[in-house]
Amino acid sequence: MSKVENWPPPNIDWYYADDSCAIANADCRKILPLLPTVDFVLTDPPYEIVATGGGIGAQRQYLADITDFTDCGFDMGILQSFHSWACFCSKTQLQELLQQVGNRRWMLVTWNKPNPTPLSNGNYLPDTEYIIHAWKAGNLHGGFRDKSRFIVYPCQQDKSHPNEKPIPVILKMLRMGTQAGDLVLDPFMGSGTTLRAAKDLGLRAIGIEISRDYCDIAIQRLRQSVLDFSTPKPEPIKQMELSSYELERSGIKQSPFIGETDGNISEMQGDEAMWQEIHDDLQRG
Ligand SMILES: C[S@@+](CC[C@H](N)C(=O)[O-])C[C@H]1O[C@@H](n2cnc3c(N)ncnc32)[C@H](O)[C@@H]1O
Repeated sequence: MSKVENWPPPNIDWYYADDSCAIANADCRKILPLLPTVDFVLTDPPYEIVATGGGIGAQRQYLADITDFTDCGFDMGILQSFHSWACFCSKTQLQELLQQVGNRRWMLVTWNKPNPTPLSNGNYLPDTEYIIHAWKAGNLHGGFRDKSRFIVYPCQQDKSHPNEKPIPVILKMLRMGTQAGDLVLDPFMGSGTTLRAAKDLGLRAIGIEISRDYCDIAIQRLRQSVLDFSTPKPEPIKQMELSSYELERSGIKQSPFIGETDGNISEMQGDEAMWQEIHDDLQRG
């Protein structure tokens, strides 16, 4: 766990700071060398977007909507100095990002969207996002159910950033990468989803964002009171999509998507190796 003596960390011109979160409105490459040691980097950097061919993907307005500041890729070498990180990436970035893993342990986690943009353009649907989670031994946290390699959660329609990630997706990754008292960093903060979720978990977090407009949106989100998961969600589909964190807080009694099992895995579907691992864990109690 990092020991942050002074909060917010000194020698940085913070655009915003409260008891748990600090935001720098800057190019992250200028701020990173000034930061104290952080425990976990969770970030969703600019993708390299390849939109070829016809269809909606080639339409100017669509590209303009999704590419402002976000299609230029990023210098993946910045991850090298952090012992534990989780990074969203496009398919194009996977290979290079995996080269940053080095001697850390790692896992490919996917966020699967049941309501993808209807944009297939002769290819697979854009219904899956990739997250590489890399950690030094001893730094994988989270409960049993957080350890699933996939997250099923719909895309949000009412977004304040074109690439805004759903809070439950971010909460799961934070639980996997942190424990109480940890300091989180998101160097490509966007609308502040990582900071908002970190605050809800009682963690400290630093966000860096080059666009002032997105910094302002993040500040608004941080000023809202801590999210209240106490009202049970009535729709079954929503319940299916709630994370274990939300389920715990809402008191909803629901079988997790892995199914309450008596150890019989024959009816389960999916990655056999993963189900076998879950089965073995259950057998061990
Ligand atoms: C994919 S978006 C992050 C969206 C975020 N996950 C959310 O939920 O809102 C990436 C962000 O990185 C920002 N960005 C791009 N280059 C940057 C840089 N060099 N330093 C800091 N932020 C940068 C962009 O402005 C964009 O908001």
